[in-house]
Amino acid sequence: MRPEIADNRANWDDRVPLHLASAFYDVPGFLAGRDTLPQVDVDGVGPVEGKSLLHLQCHFGLDTLSWARRGARVTGLDFSAPAIAAARDLAARAELAARFVEAEVHDALAATGGGFDVVFTGVGALVWLPAIRPWARVVAGCLAPGGLVWVREMHPMLYTIDEQDPEALRVRYPYFETDAPFTEDSPDTYANDGPDGPGVVAHGRQHCWNHGVGQLVQALLDEGLVLEHLGEHRACDWNALPGRMAQGEDGMWRLEAGADRIPLMLSLRARRPG
Ligand SMILES: C[S@@+](CC[C@H](N)C(=O)[O-])C[C@H]1O[C@@H](n2cnc3c(N)ncnc32)[C@H](O)[C@@H]1O
Repeated sequence: MRPEIADNRANWDDRVPLHLASAFYDVPGFLAGRDTLPQVDVDGVGPVEGKSLLHLQCHFGLDTLSWARRGARVTGLDFSAPAIAAARDLAARAELAARFVEAEVHDALAATGGGFDVVFTGVGALVWLPAIRPWARVVAGCLAPGGLVWVREMHPMLYTIDEQDPEALRVRYPYFETDAPFTEDSPDTYANDGPDGPGVVAHGRQHCWNHGVGQLVQALLDEGLVLEHLGEHRACDWNALPGRMAQGEDGMWRLEAGADRIPLMLSLRARRPG
């Protein structure tokens, strides 16, 4: 395993208990029946009743289990052992049938056996991958003929913006994929609002990589998938550039009027020919 991936795994292991306790993930609400899937994902994937669905980088599986509630036969995969243990526990408590697999995303085909009708990745997955082409190979390999992959992600353009000077909306980081990661040391995480106050991530070192839209799309096309949908969006699920964004009645965050010059999220559906 690449040392950066090992760092990331230690970092994600530490985040699990903080996220489980957080209001952000609202596990009690989920267990009481809350659906964690935004309508845009439900529409993008289409009906899943009776279909096999692989959720790559599933964290502790709230979205995976929400697909199960909609009738999918779900498999969630993540490289974090505490995340997979928590996912199995939540499946049991929610009385949902689900398979959770502990594996690095590039080992997904061997770890799951492939043959899925749907491959799904939640928001905040692709930035943890050093290169998009090996990921696309894994996705295509895991799909059954006629199966689809649905991706909704932070747009790579948003990832280039200098977060320390959001006022300027200035490009600071590379848009295209580079082998050198963005490396950060932070004891914090985005969902650190549990009842006991903020906790500390002991393994703060983390590495991320950007992937341009063209690189993502071409990687999937080169694996023989057919592009069905590509969307670039002005709204995003979270307050990505604090001080510059306002939350709408739909709960989505947008750059203030006159500053909405860049896409914030992307969505994509591609299909393996039948
Ligand atoms: C931001 S989270 C995904 C969050 C998910 N959309 C949610 O809201 O629950 C990213 C996930 O990717 C997993 N991950 C990161 N790199 C990975 C890798 N190389 N292989 C497998 N899982 C990975 C982490 O353990 C984490 O659970």
